[in-house]
Amino acid sequence: MSTINPMDANPLSSLDAWEEDVLLRYPDPEAIAAKSTEDYRNYDDPARDTVKEFYRLNHTYQTYNFVQQKRKEFLQFNKKEMTVWDAFDFLNQLVDDSDPDTDLSQLQHLLQTSEAIRRDGHPDWMVLTGLMHDMGKVLCLFGEPQWAVVGDTFPVGCAYSDKVVYPEFFKANPDFENPVYKTPNGVYEPHCGLRNVDMSWGHDEYVYQMLKDYLPEQGLYMLRYHSFYAWHREGAYDHLLDDHDRDMLKWVTLFNPYDLYSKSPEPPDWKKLRPYYEDLAGKYLPATLKF
Ligand SMILES: [Fe+2]
Ligand SMILES: [Fe+2]
Repeated sequence: MSTINPMDANPLSSLDAWEEDVLLRYPDPEAIAAKSTEDYRNYDDPARDTVKEFYRLNHTYQTYNFVQQKRKEFLQFNKKEMTVWDAFDFLNQLVDDSDPDTDLSQLQHLLQTSEAIRRDGHPDWMVLTGLMHDMGKVLCLFGEPQWAVVGDTFPVGCAYSDKVVYPEFFKANPDFENPVYKTPNGVYEPHCGLRNVDMSWGHDEYVYQMLKDYLPEQGLYMLRYHSFYAWHREGAYDHLLDDHDRDMLKWVTLFNPYDLYSKSPEPPDWKKLRPYYEDLAGKYLPATLKF
């Protein structure tokens, strides 16, 4: 019998399966009228079982110590150096094995997000934020398991909120009964501000750290907290927020629908768009990015 270390298990058919499930939780308000609520309550769907297993692993293994270890490992950015365009090619190696034809590539999701932001006339740095927001998914290509790359994020080192999806799975996390980590504030001061809070490890924090010197604060909040649904959709963790977080929340909220609801069946024409994005990247980003 083969033994797979549960920490290495990748239950999702692709990383996108997580975001597809988020869409079931937070459906596009404009599309809701067309569908019955039954469509969103189909828990017998086998694809949802894999998402559930994914969250079980995520909530079990994202401990405070695990996050510290990953920060040490990846925030040195000593793995690879690439131009932005080579980085997109690299990211695009992430494909859905089960269905390579119907699934949009990673670049297409990023372009659909950024193009929808551009169409609505938002500032150019926000367009660039849309283009870059999932670049951190390259973590998977460095051998990281899915549960350490995608999924809703949440603070570690303090009590878990029951507003995080599948909160019951936190019972298996060794931090759950830790006397220091199980109090509401845990290792943090009340209202210390999210910048002082360590989030579960994944593509948000990684891309934020990669780009923190190059984008305005509002864009950095969009990068860093776009998967923190318990905060920006559910209003949890108020006891850790400061006024700056409350002020920035509107930007994270502004960004979220572009991430979730910009998927369209027509892939954007990268060849046509490339000159615009080359200028935009040239305006804000260095020639190469460190991974
Ligand atoms: Fe993302
Ligand atoms: Fe995304």
